[in-house]
Amino acid sequence: MSIYRNAVWFVKGLQEYTKSGYEAASKAFAASDLEVNLKGRSFVITGANSGIGKAAAQEVANRGGSVHLVCRNRERAEAARDDIIQHSNNQDVHVHIVDMSSPRQVWEFATGFTEKHTVNVLVNNAGCMVNQRELTEDGLEKNFATNTLGTYILTTALIPALKKAADARVITVSSGGMLVQKLNFEDLQFEKGTFDGTMAYAQNKRQQVIMTERWADQHKEIHFSSMHPGWADTPAVRSAMPDFHAKMKGRLRSEAEGADTIVWLAVTNTDTKTRPSGAFYQDRRPVNTHLPLASTRSSAAEEEKLLQELNTLTNKFKP
Ligand SMILES: NC(=O)c1ccc[n+]([C@@H]2O[C@H](COP(=O)([O-])OP(=O)(O)OC[C@H]3O[C@@H](n4cnc5c(N)ncnc54)[C@H](OP(=O)(O)O)[C@@H]3O)[C@@H](O)[C@H]2O)c1
Repeated sequence: MSIYRNAVWFVKGLQEYTKSGYEAASKAFAASDLEVNLKGRSFVITGANSGIGKAAAQEVANRGGSVHLVCRNRERAEAARDDIIQHSNNQDVHVHIVDMSSPRQVWEFATGFTEKHTVNVLVNNAGCMVNQRELTEDGLEKNFATNTLGTYILTTALIPALKKAADARVITVSSGGMLVQKLNFEDLQFEKGTFDGTMAYAQNKRQQVIMTERWADQHKEIHFSSMHPGWADTPAVRSAMPDFHAKMKGRLRSEAEGADTIVWLAVTNTDTKTRPSGAFYQDRRPVNTHLPLASTRSSAAEEEKLLQELNTLTNKFKP
């Protein structure tokens, strides 16, 4: 089954996820969707010092939004902030140092942030593909800690503040790679079998899609979406997938093209009928979360078990 899923997914990727896939899809984009003045709206973007996250932060800053870059490395974060300010002439761009794989740091940040700031839009963009099984200082597997648990805790901690904000939105940067995985709620930290970083990453990205669907059901006042940026030429792809990068070089999207749907979901005023809450987006439209005949659907009971486990871990680290 995994050979079938991977083959179908790769063929789909070559058609849709590449630069040419973006160029074809973008013919249907309305430029006016992004003609928005964001003055007075506050955006929290994780992993915003690099790649797709930085490109999205730049677009928000260009439109006058208040931008909060949530990054783990001060030097890289401040360099990104200075660059974004220089290109946008918007001084309202701020750095917050948080390691998203540390549940305590995520909680601490969210609590402190909401005491001082409002948040209209959260973009869960920070992500990693660690190819060896490594543990954080809390004993959590690193991909899970960053991609799934960090995203879950930050969103959970910011939901009360988002509910008080006008037109609140949460966008989670998942990946089309999740299409090759069925939810595995029994081994969230990959303790069984041989560890495969690519599959761990894809499993985390599947979990993000399920989390988004659940949040949308539970919190109608907030618009939730998950999305796939396509295959974009970023530092993460270059370092975590060097063979893929070498093979696809020249056919990958730019960082701005990868960020386009994040920006659209974050800023557009289009009718929510065209962008339902809880959906998975690619090139500004909701798309299927399963490949045909791939047997990747999970039951409501299985998804509930994922949520229960995440809630247990979230509460364990709550200050
Ligand atoms: N590029 C693609 O083709 C593609 C495809 C599908 C999905 N995505 C998703 O797009 C998102 C952005 O990735 P990218 O491709 O733009 O790569 P990138 O340029 O390497 O950006 C990843 C960002 O996440 C940050 N990050 C990673 N671990 C973190 C942690 N523990 N705490 C705080 N920040 C952390 C990185 O910070 P450092 O600079 O400090 O490492 C960086 O700012 C990811 O969620 C990725 O899974 C990308």
